[in-house]
Amino acid sequence: MTRFTVNGQPVHYRMDPETPLLWALRDASNLTGTKYGCGTGDCGACTVHIDGEAVRSCTVTIAAVEGSFVTTIEALSRDRSHPVQQAWVADSVPQCGFCQPGMIMAAAALIEKNPNPTDAEIDAAITNICRCGTYPRVRNAIRRATR
Ligand code: FES
Repeated sequence: MTRFTVNGQPVHYRMDPETPLLWALRDASNLTGTKYGCGTGDCGACTVHIDGEAVRSCTVTIAAVEGSFVTTIEALSRDRSHPVQQAWVADSVPQCGFCQPGMIMAAAALIEKNPNPTDAEIDAAITNICRCGTYPRVRNAIRRATR
């Protein structure tokens, strides 16, 4: 049995410890805001926070996060929208929207560590793939969220 915390709640998954965190979140916890894109750590659609770090949840097993604090897009902000989410709305960032939860989680982790990132730092930190090409709006929204 694997034990850790998801969105402030203790979880006890009775699954193979080698199960990717992505599938435990989606299938066992019904937290479907975390998306499956590639399953190989390349696209970033599955990005969550583990102990505050942006991590691609398809690349980590549930055994590897034993004792950790996992946050998904559903709990990025409990009371009101996170500044990154507010900026995403203000800049109309999403197009199809599929990759956006992962983008937002990556952006939130970035500005938590670096409240005033340069464009180069944004580009280095946000390596998530968006097939609609929303990258300029993503960058603008991150700038807005840090104002
Ligand atoms: Fe995890 Fe693409 S689904 S990086």
